Amino acid sequence: MGNTSYFSLRTAMVSRIGREVELSPVELGSQTAKRVEINLASGSPDPRVMPVKEIKEAYDYVLEEFGPKALFYPGAGGQEVLVKEAWNYADFLGVKRRAGDSLVITSGAQHGIELLSLYFLDGNGKIAVENPTFVETFQPMKLLSSVVFPVSLDSRGIRVDELEFVARLTKLDFVYVIPNCHNPAGVNLAEERKKELVELASKYDFYVIEDDPYRTIACGLGEPIKNYDREGRVIYVSTFSKVLAPGLRVGFFIANEEIAHKVSLMEQMDFSTSTVNQYVVARLLQQRVPQDRRGGLYEHYGRKMRVLMDELRDRGLTDFNEPKCGFFLLLDSHKSSRRVFEEAVKRSVSVVDAKPFFLRGGETMLRLSVAVENEERIKEGVRRLREAVEAA
Ligand SMILES: Cc1ncc(COP(=O)(O)O)c(C=O)c1O
Repeated sequence: MGNTSYFSLRTAMVSRIGREVELSPVELGSQTAKRVEINLASGSPDPRVMPVKEIKEAYDYVLEEFGPKALFYPGAGGQEVLVKEAWNYADFLGVKRRAGDSLVITSGAQHGIELLSLYFLDGNGKIAVENPTFVETFQPMKLLSSVVFPVSLDSRGIRVDELEFVARLTKLDFVYVIPNCHNPAGVNLAEERKKELVELASKYDFYVIEDDPYRTIACGLGEPIKNYDREGRVIYVSTFSKVLAPGLRVGFFIANEEIAHKVSLMEQMDFSTSTVNQYVVARLLQQRVPQDRRGGLYEHYGRKMRVLMDELRDRGLTDFNEPKCGFFLLLDSHKSSRRVFEEAVKRSVSVVDAKPFFLRGGETMLRLSVAVENEERIKEGVRRLREAVEAA
């Protein structure tokens, strides 16, 4: 971070947000979803499979067992009990631990990425992101960077050859990637590209932020990018939002000691993550709730994704990469995404206009989600979407 203080950067960022903030397409999609019959926009998990009973029991247990201690100010870095359980969980997810790695608890992945952006970028940063990338996590990076390079994404993830072209010309601070069940593109990063990415990071001296929230609800994925890293250049970001509930606001990241230490100190400034929720997630991990849910959730969302894809194809909407996991499918509607969005709302369906996820192109792209609707309503949503595309 050079000589610029955390406070002045954060203040600069917040004041820029104050001036520049607009309603994000994701927020617009969720606000619209409240007013329409069919929600193909949501990034929140399916309420039907949220472990409400287990979470309630965990709150009861934690308050009974720890009383006021679970309601103190949280302190930076995370509660010891959760740090320990989150390490075990990272093991379960297949994330390898390098000597010197540290784990930091955050208020979800979004918080972790905001803090990492503040750590790496001094308002003058140079970064590369996938094109498209997730608009929400991208916000803090964009506000703290002077240059952002969009790197193409295909059915096998980020185009590492294109990234090398960029890295050869410019010293990058970091590259931000969503390797699995990409939001919004649905694709997974191919194994050989992960290795190449780590080699490039070493060769051109940049860091990689690996944002991997959907591994918690997916099976059969390859290695985390981090597992190929021998130099501490990859920061692994995860969350309990998808496997438990996003309203808990608990996630974590793993990084080399220096980064983890500095970033956890920044948490002194925002009072970090709810103490009681940290205890609750620790309890749920001890009871193996997230661990035991993984396979079932993979099946659950996979089934709905197959219904979505079949219905789209039956209705002649065939231009998409097949998602292997997660909530999202990126559809090229070949019509203005803004117009299709508006026509869909007229038919009481909410989708996300994906144009803002793109730094270049994307004018005809829509993000569709299988997260909250059941099979029948997904089919009906696609039927109406077809009409919306025709009308647009
Ligand atoms: C790729 C990606 N990163 C981060 C997040 C934010 O996760 P959290 O709720 O943990 O902040 C999401 C949520 O949709 C996401 O899709």
